[in-house]
Amino acid sequence: MTRFIALISGKGGVGKTTSTICLGKALSKLGKKVTLLDTNLMTPNLSLQLGFVDPPATLNHFLRREKELHEIIYTHSSGLSFIPTSTSYQEVQKTHPQQLTEIFEHLDDTSELVLVDTANGLGEEISHVLKNTDEALIVVNPNLSSVMDALKSLQLARDNNNLIPGIILNMSNKSKHKLKDDEIEKILHTPIIGKIKFDKKIRKASHQGMPVNYLYPHTKSSREFNKVAQYICTYLHK
Ligand SMILES: Nc1ncnc2c1ncn2[C@@H]1O[C@H](COP(=O)(O)OP(=O)(O)OP(=O)(O)O)[C@@H](O)[C@H]1O
Ligand SMILES: [Mg+2]
Repeated sequence: MTRFIALISGKGGVGKTTSTICLGKALSKLGKKVTLLDTNLMTPNLSLQLGFVDPPATLNHFLRREKELHEIIYTHSSGLSFIPTSTSYQEVQKTHPQQLTEIFEHLDDTSELVLVDTANGLGEEISHVLKNTDEALIVVNPNLSSVMDALKSLQLARDNNNLIPGIILNMSNKSKHKLKDDEIEKILHTPIIGKIKFDKKIRKASHQGMPVNYLYPHTKSSREFNKVAQYICTYLHK
């Protein structure tokens, strides 16, 4: 059975896509068969951050039954498998969030883990995703608005029977009025399982369409993603 894990946040731009890619790479380094799925239908950027600007076959085609599953799964040069969503405005208009359940049904049993990159907030897409996932990882930055908005996403995940392994605290050193770790854990009632500092190498790697832990495996942020991957591997046995 496949474990479907969503990476969710209240606010946009906190690092969900980056974390999806880097955690995926870290899990595959541990020998796990992983697929990354972009469910951000309105403003997708998983494939962009992997250097694929205009993939010819996308999730949108699959949901309209114009392409088969094997045609929309790509293999990145870092070894990652991923399913892109179209970045075109016309495609967005023709794709409906309620169709998303179909991709989950087809992906079941194809990988050990599917990491699901999501749209931020509480919109229709995320509701349809969380109906189909087993677990949700919360990605936040260390400021009050990021954490308070994440609380609502977390509640939506719990309402949809998702387990919550923990919080990825991204850009952990990058806020003027930073919340302390224990304050974040207390508000969200969830442990921080990874702390990623602002890292220029993440931006550099993303610019080259690569996971930072593929290009720079020994940097602190790469090691932190490895730690999160290890936690995820043992989480269900705790
Ligand atoms: N720890 C970090 N250090 C430096 N830059 C980072 C870090 N994490 C993410 N970034 C950069 O910040 C930007 C936003 O990150 P990302 O796209 O992962 O956020 P997101 O939550 O997926 O955004 P959206 O809500 O728009 O989908 C990207 O340019 C990414 O490369
Ligand atoms: Mg994103």
